[in-house]
Amino acid sequence: MTGELDGDCRIVVLSGAGMSAESGIRTFRDNGGLWEEYDVMTVATPEAWKQNPALVTRFYNQRRTQLKEVEPNPGHRALAELEAHFQVHVITQNVDDLHERAGSTQVMHLHGRLTQMRSEKYPYPVYDVGYTEMELDACGADGGRLRPNIVWFGEEVPLIADASHWVMQADVLIVVGTSLNVYPAAGLLYHARHGCEKYLVDPGEHQTQGVFRLKHLKQKAGDALPNLVRDLIQRKGN
Ligand code: OAD
Repeated sequence: MTGELDGDCRIVVLSGAGMSAESGIRTFRDNGGLWEEYDVMTVATPEAWKQNPALVTRFYNQRRTQLKEVEPNPGHRALAELEAHFQVHVITQNVDDLHERAGSTQVMHLHGRLTQMRSEKYPYPVYDVGYTEMELDACGADGGRLRPNIVWFGEEVPLIADASHWVMQADVLIVVGTSLNVYPAAGLLYHARHGCEKYLVDPGEHQTQGVFRLKHLKQKAGDALPNLVRDLIQRKGN
């Protein structure tokens, strides 16, 4: 695509697990993805938490401690660089903190964050626990057991209206590393306004790409995003 972009140009990124794949975090639905090894119903639902909180705690402890060992990849860093030139909002389905560690400052975590816990009774307050392993009997101020601050299957996505507001404002939408299998996140694409320039960065095939008129950059995030970002910045002119 061509055409000049100005500094008021609003860029929205919708990222998924593939964004962090090159950092060494497994995706969910690819070959070798997490949902091949684990039954999602036994680790990522409120019912799983009721039935076997020890298993759920162990599952998220593993993910949290792994997060300490990984680093943002060139894709995360390229997106962070965009902020010096445009208004950029990142909506991520990822529970890792790699966008922030790369330098992005406007990041919305639709599905929660690994580094946070909350009481099983109420969603607030949220407790920052960093990369530590949690004990099963840790409790919040209200006496409720602390659970990961993750939006599990079957739960509402509290930030979806805010995310939709961001997408509606977008002049450029970059969808990266998501199979678009999970709603309501996938439905956000319907909220992009007519004329919004839309990209899909994903090395895999995508059924939905035609429906949403996405320009498919069929490459890994770490390869495609630095080039895409460079092109967008060049189009800003001086
Ligand atoms: P998926 O695992 O469903 O999809 C990952 C996508 O990333 C696939 O389309 C891959 O082709 C693509 N991909 C793989 N490597 C890539 C790379 N290096 N660069 C770019 N793309 C790459 O993950 P999500 O769509 O994020 O929710 O899954 C959505 C939600 O389902 C997750 O947030 C999680 C999961 O269950 C919860 O746990 C609540």
